Amino acid sequence: MEAILETTFANLTLPNPIIIASSGLTDSVSKNRELEKAGAGALVLKSLFEEQISKNAASLLMGEEFQTANEHVLHYFKTNEVNNYLKLIRETKDNCRIPVIASVNCYKDDSWIEFACQIEMAGADALELNFFALHTELEKDAGFLDNACLRIARKVKDLLHIPVIVKMTKYFSHPLRLINELISLGISGVVLFNRFYYPDIDINRLQLTSGQVFSSYTDISDALRWTGIVSGKLPSASIAACTGIHDWESILKCILSGASAIQICSAVYQHGNEIIAQMKRSMEEWMHSMNFYSLNEFRGKLNYASIEDPSLYERVQFMRYFSNRD
Ligand SMILES: Cc1cc2nc3c(=O)[nH]c(=O)nc-3n(C[C@H](O)[C@H](O)[C@H](O)COP(=O)(O)O)c2cc1C
Repeated sequence: MEAILETTFANLTLPNPIIIASSGLTDSVSKNRELEKAGAGALVLKSLFEEQISKNAASLLMGEEFQTANEHVLHYFKTNEVNNYLKLIRETKDNCRIPVIASVNCYKDDSWIEFACQIEMAGADALELNFFALHTELEKDAGFLDNACLRIARKVKDLLHIPVIVKMTKYFSHPLRLINELISLGISGVVLFNRFYYPDIDINRLQLTSGQVFSSYTDISDALRWTGIVSGKLPSASIAACTGIHDWESILKCILSGASAIQICSAVYQHGNEIIAQMKRSMEEWMHSMNFYSLNEFRGKLNYASIEDPSLYERVQFMRYFSNRD
């Protein structure tokens, strides 16, 4: 019997669990067509960033005395950028058969809702809410980010008919509880986790610089830990693991820990689209050798609820490791 890679994530049926993560990889119809041809299971389009639109528009503004003209420029710029994004959705849908997931990141509540409604009307199969924020304000409570995420997710979910997915970062204060509440709102899937831009410091020029743009395969641990915990404690959660997935073995690890799908970005940037077919082939060979014929036969087999010692997922100290070292 042939191994079948088909899976369901966020109520979408995917021919295989490899989703191309939102990035420059998915910002044009031609790239998206090539990714489908290379064997991707679904695509998340490059995010529509409200902040980017505002920043680009601000560079065109004139002095304060030209307020009306400036408002006109801002409106024109925003409409143009949003229309380009809607065109990308429509054209990708016209050219690809795999699920096409749009992605937004905003800073104003109204913009999340406005963009989400337009995206649904343009024909996206699902919407990913890219909650990409870091809280550094002293006066805000610890749960501020979690509450903001719930508030936006509720508003968007109430209006949309397509599946809504929340792409999380690892900086939420209580991920398990947040995901539980997102599920009760009707959110169809979660992505664990997005990867932040990392700052670095140039000690010779005494300047703050950009750190590694791409992840490395050692970055997978957070996705594995939280996929294992969430899928074990919240069996109805539909999870796409993300960050640090660079080879087919990592995809299998994510599925064993309970993911329904995975998202990749760095590996495709670094090795090209060919890596998708290689990953699929190796997964099929492994499944065949282990007598697994569908992903469901082993999904979650090593999650928090299925292993003898689930505390392994919660361990944060290296006590035994260090006590054995000289
Ligand atoms: C160049 C680049 C651009 C990205 N742009 C977006 C984006 O627009 N929206 C988003 O949600 N994530 C974006 N990401 C994050 C990726 O979608 C992904 O979550 C992250 O790279 C971790 O996956 P990886 O380890 O496979 O790279 C970007 C990543 C890179 C490297």
